[in-house]
Amino acid sequence: MVKELIKSLLGEKNTARVRRLKSSINAAKSTWHTLSTPQNPRDSLNVRQLISVHMLEKALAVGNMKYLSAVKYPELISNISRLIDMGLPPDDYTVAVSAAIIRSALAAIHGHEDEKSQLEALVSDRKIPAQNFRGGAEVVPSAEILKHTNFDFHAFVSSRHSVRKFRDKVIPSPVIREIVRDALYCPSACNRQPFRVYYSEDRGKIAEIIKLGADGFIAAGVHDCLIVTCDRALQNPAELDDQEYVNGGIFLGYLVMSIHAHGLGSCLFQCLRSSMVKQDRIRRAFGISQSEVIVCCVGIGELEDEVSVACAQRRPVETVAISLDS
Ligand SMILES: Cc1cc2nc3c(=O)[nH]c(=O)nc-3n(C[C@H](O)[C@H](O)[C@H](O)COP(=O)(O)O)c2cc1C
Repeated sequence: MVKELIKSLLGEKNTARVRRLKSSINAAKSTWHTLSTPQNPRDSLNVRQLISVHMLEKALAVGNMKYLSAVKYPELISNISRLIDMGLPPDDYTVAVSAAIIRSALAAIHGHEDEKSQLEALVSDRKIPAQNFRGGAEVVPSAEILKHTNFDFHAFVSSRHSVRKFRDKVIPSPVIREIVRDALYCPSACNRQPFRVYYSEDRGKIAEIIKLGADGFIAAGVHDCLIVTCDRALQNPAELDDQEYVNGGIFLGYLVMSIHAHGLGSCLFQCLRSSMVKQDRIRRAFGISQSEVIVCCVGIGELEDEVSVACAQRRPVETVAISLDS
């Protein structure tokens, strides 16, 4: 009704202008949100450390010995201590994976004996379970990779549909964790994996997620729903504002595929980017940190015997894959 009123008062052309203005205001709000939540020193060191050790892994993978020899290892090693002193536990991801990666890098270069001993002393003194974390680079026979590609990918992807009506069941937590474990194999910038998936088996909480994060009438057949966030605390301030939506979007793609591979259905519910108010409501309702952006809510559920879905015709491939050759 309000839309109709605006239309009749301003005319069609101006309504579009109002819409554009609203979307600019929302974009500005989003930028403000990013700028107004500065990283604390621990988060900022955490991000720097993750980026630095990721560079080591990349250098190891391509055999860039020049880079590996020039790295300031004492600083990277002391960052691990600092992170623990700042409150991270010894089995924290950044702490343990850093130790594992630095250990591999030092093993690949000559000399640096002092740094090697310094690292081993730190791992032992602080009881860092570096041995449980994979770090460095490895050689994988291509046959090993290719043997897993021998399946009908087209049939797999084209048999997924957005499902908006499910059996009235809640998905057990272990299944959700398995789905998320597999989705975590998606690529992410500097392998920082800034994603989080919030889920519950409590019908009351689920109803609240659906109310706040899913779309009214469409969600009537949805009985379980996840909240997917991306943590800006793991973002390098020098990166583009939208980095979390890029990472989050890629993760969502893997997540829906993982749900599909587990024999369940899913539907993404409009990323809430357009509404900071909605994002804040969800954060407040579930105690989600201010540094996390809510990327999307995902309806999930068991398929009924017959599933009614939109045809969702894809565009002709030539209109999407554009050859740059004449
Ligand atoms: C970012 C994003 C937001 C979406 N939001 C909604 C939504 O709010 N409600 C809904 O019913 N479907 C939503 N969808 C699902 C799309 O409508 C659906 O993916 C598209 O029509 C293609 O159909 P398919 O998933 O069945 O192949 C969303 C999808 C994406 C990627």
